[in-house]
Amino acid sequence: MSTAIDLSGKIAIVTGSGSGLGRGIALCLAKAGADVAIADINAEDAQGVVKEIIALGRKSFAIKTDVTKEDEVFAMVDEVVKKWGKLDIMCPNAGTCSAGPLDKLSADNWDKMMQINLYGHFYCVKAALKYMKPQKSGKIVMTASQAGRVAVPLLAGYSVSKFGVVALTKAVAQEVALDNIQVNCIGPGIIRTKIWDKILGDLVAAGIGEADALYKAFIDAIPTKREQTPEDIGNAVTFLASDLANEITGDILLINGGQFNCP
Ligand SMILES: NC(=O)c1ccc[n+]([C@@H]2O[C@H](COP(=O)([O-])OP(=O)(O)OC[C@H]3O[C@@H](n4cnc5c(N)ncnc54)[C@H](O)[C@@H]3O)[C@@H](O)[C@H]2O)c1
Repeated sequence: MSTAIDLSGKIAIVTGSGSGLGRGIALCLAKAGADVAIADINAEDAQGVVKEIIALGRKSFAIKTDVTKEDEVFAMVDEVVKKWGKLDIMCPNAGTCSAGPLDKLSADNWDKMMQINLYGHFYCVKAALKYMKPQKSGKIVMTASQAGRVAVPLLAGYSVSKFGVVALTKAVAQEVALDNIQVNCIGPGIIRTKIWDKILGDLVAAGIGEADALYKAFIDAIPTKREQTPEDIGNAVTFLASDLANEITGDILLINGGQFNCP
């Protein structure tokens, strides 16, 4: 087997891929040769990423999907398989975050995190297994967070949802091991996407500090003192989605400059 990552002929879905990490994951999978469906609630952003993938010489199309709706997720996966014949790689990635002290966190914002971050991943995994189990192959790579490995103060609800994604990964990986399906998740560190604008906005509104100083403090806590990029995250997912990772399942791969690696 070659040690180069080659996803030629593979069919992938990435949710929340209209922007941020999802876009980075989709572009990396496409650069490795996969055809990638872009599923996002924001149809305009999704179309932009489709154009980027087609410019790389791969196939792509956008599907407006709200991952909190089980029927929409199943319809989206059905559409991909109808169009392209199979599903090799499923990357549930759409997510959101509400930050601040727990006693100020509304039940609505708590629910939103559970719906998008946790139920969204649950529905995507279920819908992927509909095709991966009969075909006896597949790679599922979910987007958890380093906050799914170590609970982070002021991110309690987010941490709960991401610990849930890690538990989902570990439980399902064992269920489908004999179906030749590998299930893993990634734990990104800090990448300045829209989610971080939201987190910093919430913290500023809660009187915790000023946005730039807070962000600098988060980066300074990383051993490498570097933020990560969407491409760093996409590269890790591409590895886990490849045959090079056939013996890795039920694990979380942290891409975070070494933070929380030795709790
Ligand atoms: N940026 C970071 O530092 C960081 C760190 C760890 C984990 N993560 C995780 O990475 C994932 C992507 O986050 P990001 O940083 O790219 O944020 P982002 O806000 O840039 O992207 C989130 C994407 O999800 C889409 N989305 C939101 N709700 C949706 C829904 N109901 N259905 C379908 N799509 C929906 C948005 O339209 C957007 O394109 C999330 O799961 C997040 O928790 C991010």
